[in-house]
Amino acid sequence: MIKPSALILAIMMLASCQNAEELKSEQYFVEGYQLYTTHCANCHQPDGKGMSNLYPPLAGSPALTNKALISCVIKNGMRDTIQVNGKVFSRPMPANPKLTEIEIAEIVSFVSMKWGKDSTYTKIETVQAALQGCKTY
Ligand code: HEC
Repeated sequence: MIKPSALILAIMMLASCQNAEELKSEQYFVEGYQLYTTHCANCHQPDGKGMSNLYPPLAGSPALTNKALISCVIKNGMRDTIQVNGKVFSRPMPANPKLTEIEIAEIVSFVSMKWGKDSTYTKIETVQAALQGCKTY
């Protein structure tokens, strides 16, 4: 039989482990929000809905299910003609060569949790793997 004290310890460890993940999600979300406000909101707007036919929306965009695309577009910018929710966009988006991998992970976390379906943060490893395989968008 397991000693009750061992059981309590196991539960406590499990709880603190969950809390650490929750804390990290919160931290990524808050930092990501600040970075988004500084680097993205001018164009994509604070509510993520974009601006007329100049800047595409992120909120409600299919792009939010593609973390590799989001990571690469943040890092390298985009020069393409795309269609989002029936509207065509063809202005270039500038690159952000100075953003670090962790900052990109924080921004991806913020947009994915705010406007996508994510309930937890995006790991830096996900962004690192994506950035190694960027094609030109
Ligand atoms: C100067 C304006 C501007 C800024 C700043 C900007 N973007 Fe963009 N973004 C655009 C434009 C314009 C496009 C469409 C590019 C194209 O058509 O090739 C775009 C495209 C995108 C896409 C692809 C959308 C899709 O549906 O494929 C994502 C994702 C994105 N931006 C995220 C961001 C994030 C995150 C930031 C902040 C780090 C950011 N952008 C900063 C203007 C901007």
